[in-house]
Amino acid sequence: MAISHDLKMDHKVVRRLEAALRVMADMVRKGNGPTGADLEEAMMLMTDFVDIYHHGKEETCLFPLVEGAHEDQKKTVHGFLVEHEFGRRAARMIRQKYERWAKGDLEAAEALARFILTYADFIKTHTEIEDVWFDVLDGRLLKSGEQREILECISRAERGEVEERRAEFASRVDALASKYK
Ligand SMILES: [Fe+2]
Ligand SMILES: [Fe+2]
Repeated sequence: MAISHDLKMDHKVVRRLEAALRVMADMVRKGNGPTGADLEEAMMLMTDFVDIYHHGKEETCLFPLVEGAHEDQKKTVHGFLVEHEFGRRAARMIRQKYERWAKGDLEAAEALARFILTYADFIKTHTEIEDVWFDVLDGRLLKSGEQREILECISRAERGEVEERRAEFASRVDALASKYK
């Protein structure tokens, strides 16, 4: 199996979250939702799924191996790391604004909506650019031994439950996406 298969599958789920976030941001702005529990769930998915699970696979298993074997990819990898950090900061800002909004501070609504949209935009551009890069990695850059090493690393990091964990996150994302569409 190519590395792009696993990571692109994640991206598909991440982009379903993006779509739900856009609807949630619009509701925050209009003052007609979403529920606090659903926003909490969206924030947990940003942390547990997008960052710890998905970015974790890239940062622990993919980026170090690619950089180590292919000097010319260092700049690209650095760019992706900067974007991951941007995503973390945007998620922290969402949390901050959410705390105020949840206490009934209506002035926080606009800022909360904007940071949710910023996060959705981050997801969109970041996953699209990575998808193109994964094709380059699979198509010509990575040798089959390197592919195997990355996949084994991912499997070890998830204790052999890569697919199961993605399925678990996907069902949580789909539960949100079916409410916010
Ligand atoms: Fe990434
Ligand atoms: Fe990614």
